Amino acid sequence: MPQALRILNTLMEEHLAAEKSDPVRETLTPQAIRAKLDLDLRATGIPFEDLKDELRGIMAVTPVTANKSFYNQLYGGRDPSAFTGEVMSTLLNTSMYTYKIGGVHVLIELALVKRMGEIMGFEDAEGTFLPGGSMSNLAGMVVALNNAIPGYKTNGPQGKIPRVYTSIEGHYSVPKAAGLLGVGQANCVKIAVDERGQMLPQALEAAIVQDLKDGLTPAMINATTGTTVLGAFDQIAPISAIARKHNVWLHIDAAYGGSFVFHPELKAHFKDAGLADSITWDAHKVMGVPLTCSVILVKKKGLLTQAMSQSASYLFQRGTDEYNPGTRNLQCGRRNSALKLWCAWRVHGDQGYTKRTQAMRNNALTAQECIQDSKQLKLIRVPESINICFEAPGVDTDDLLDAMLSDGDAMIGHAQVDGRTVVRLVLLNPEVSPSDIRVLFATLSAKAEALAKG
Ligand SMILES: Cc1ncc(COP(=O)(O)O)c(C=O)c1O
Repeated sequence: MPQALRILNTLMEEHLAAEKSDPVRETLTPQAIRAKLDLDLRATGIPFEDLKDELRGIMAVTPVTANKSFYNQLYGGRDPSAFTGEVMSTLLNTSMYTYKIGGVHVLIELALVKRMGEIMGFEDAEGTFLPGGSMSNLAGMVVALNNAIPGYKTNGPQGKIPRVYTSIEGHYSVPKAAGLLGVGQANCVKIAVDERGQMLPQALEAAIVQDLKDGLTPAMINATTGTTVLGAFDQIAPISAIARKHNVWLHIDAAYGGSFVFHPELKAHFKDAGLADSITWDAHKVMGVPLTCSVILVKKKGLLTQAMSQSASYLFQRGTDEYNPGTRNLQCGRRNSALKLWCAWRVHGDQGYTKRTQAMRNNALTAQECIQDSKQLKLIRVPESINICFEAPGVDTDDLLDAMLSDGDAMIGHAQVDGRTVVRLVLLNPEVSPSDIRVLFATLSAKAEALAKG
């Protein structure tokens, strides 16, 4: 191990320095990477010390995601306390299925589930950590199906056709889960949204009423609070009234937006979250915890365990289900994703996340101003949270983004809005300041102008 620590220390220091001096790295083509690096595996190994150079080579061609030039995905920056927890959980290498192996880490997981549940309005939530919002949405759907069709776990749909509802702006993991769970993607009904990107409650109710008339079984409504492209929030109060009226499970996909519950204004979108039955909340997005760290919260204790548990006498030998978290998880062997979030939360407290989300939102408002002041750029929607969708009229969006990347200015992604490819800038790194945003937009405007001139 001393050799591992020495190698890691050297490489980490090099990486942190390189992130500063080489802030934006274009992703090389597969051919270019293979030409540079020998990635093949052989019968004979190499000396451990040589791995240092091999890792150096890999690091040099890895896209940079933790610095202020990365605006491409729904994560960003690096939180030292969460990083410490991440490394520590690898060192300790517990597996989170039983108390015997997990010990104190099971208690940490329970403490986080309790706190996150309470913040969302679930008095005594049942929950577990999963590798990502897609998995947590799938877990929510598993519980919803067992709720809508008793015995689903044992006997399947028993001739019923379950239906799942989500908005057209909802994340693709919802229809994907419907496909994976045998519901069928065609039974995932996409509900229209308004101009702001919020699911239309009337359209949702009309779809449910029609399905009931057709003898189908409405099983789950997925409301999204923090949509992937527009950062918009479905309205929980009217949607939950529909769910209650028709006795349909309400899941909230707050994978992305959940952490805005800490923001003084945006938290209003969560005031009725306690009316839902289950919630997905990712800590690896807005909370800045290293990938992956996602939680599924279920309001009524016992339902998650009922839907997930499977007997395994060699594994679950002693203790109650509460302290054997494998009984409520999709996975068997499971890495410890809780410690890193716990470390970060202990250090920052709720107040730290309030400051963090305020910094992100201020940047979004600065970005909005910059676009409105620019002759070259046009805002597509007023930002609902921290997603800024805009375009440069007359300029191909991908040409603009490619120019930003290849000139080493920033890595930014695109999205489809109103049938067009537009820039989707997401401002998840709290270290980015309003003046960084102004510099970024001056560059974007100048590049758009140059591209427009040809
Ligand atoms: C609203 C929403 N839900 C779910 C997901 C999936 O989360 P993950 O990437 O952690 O699987 C995303 C990812 O961007 C998302 O934006």
